[in-house]
Amino acid sequence: MASYALKLDDEEVRRYRTMAQAAVAVERDLWEAAGIRRAAAVADVGCGPGAVSVLLANVVGSEGQVWAVDADPHSVKKAAALAARVGLPNVETVVGDAAATGLPVGTLDVAMLRHVLAHNGGREQAIVDHLASLVRPGGCVYLVDADGTAVHVRPNDRDLDDMHDRYREFHRRRGNDISVGLRLAELLHEAGLDVVDFTGRYRIEQSEPGLRGPAWAAREAIVKTGLATPADVGRWSAAFKRADSRPDRPTWFIPMFIGIGRKLA
Ligand SMILES: C[S@@+](CC[C@H](N)C(=O)[O-])C[C@H]1O[C@@H](n2cnc3c(N)ncnc32)[C@H](O)[C@@H]1O
Repeated sequence: MASYALKLDDEEVRRYRTMAQAAVAVERDLWEAAGIRRAAAVADVGCGPGAVSVLLANVVGSEGQVWAVDADPHSVKKAAALAARVGLPNVETVVGDAAATGLPVGTLDVAMLRHVLAHNGGREQAIVDHLASLVRPGGCVYLVDADGTAVHVRPNDRDLDDMHDRYREFHRRRGNDISVGLRLAELLHEAGLDVVDFTGRYRIEQSEPGLRGPAWAAREAIVKTGLATPADVGRWSAAFKRADSRPDRPTWFIPMFIGIGRKLA
């Protein structure tokens, strides 16, 4: 696969934690409907630094099990450290690809995949097919992704708009589909699953000072491809500083989608 482009620094870890807290608050009923409950066996594939994995582990409790899987060993290490720090021995971390995790097939109650498909252009179906193979009959694949072409930030800033335009172009050139959130039901259906839920909403939130989002996290990769220069990055950074000094925080509008597919018993 093309290497994952978003650099995992402390700011990114904080961003994942913020997103995870919002997710658990909004998706609680969907988690329950998919089978994420006490004693369940759940995989969090593409777990990043494990912000969601530990929330899943809290729900399934000591009788349950969470496998936190990521292709990036650095992220897996962070996820393991977080689980140890918050005292959750029911999280097992695995370095592995989302289309070939190595987890035993037909055993999981739920396989979750959040914000991973948009980084795997051309491999989306192979990944969802693999997750479908991991769940037991009656178990669910739980997908979350956005429509990155319809993200807005208000108030507008010319430099930040420019950064987001280049980030979208960066993904397009890699063959990634950043609108993949719109396709979640199709992917589940093609994997032979019964689509039991496909829902979406705008996440509308004011960003915390210092949190700069995915385009910023990908800045080094964007420069490496020749789509921007270090001077552009300096200009984007100055724009963030300007935004951080304003009393009114920029508001993000992010269309998010959740698809749940159940394997027929
Ligand atoms: C945007 S982060 C999302 C992290 C986490 N799912 C969350 O929502 O907080 C995407 C993660 O997926 C991982 N990833 C991307 N493609 C992958 C693949 N093919 N196999 C395994 N992990 C992958 C990246 O290394 C990164 O940690």
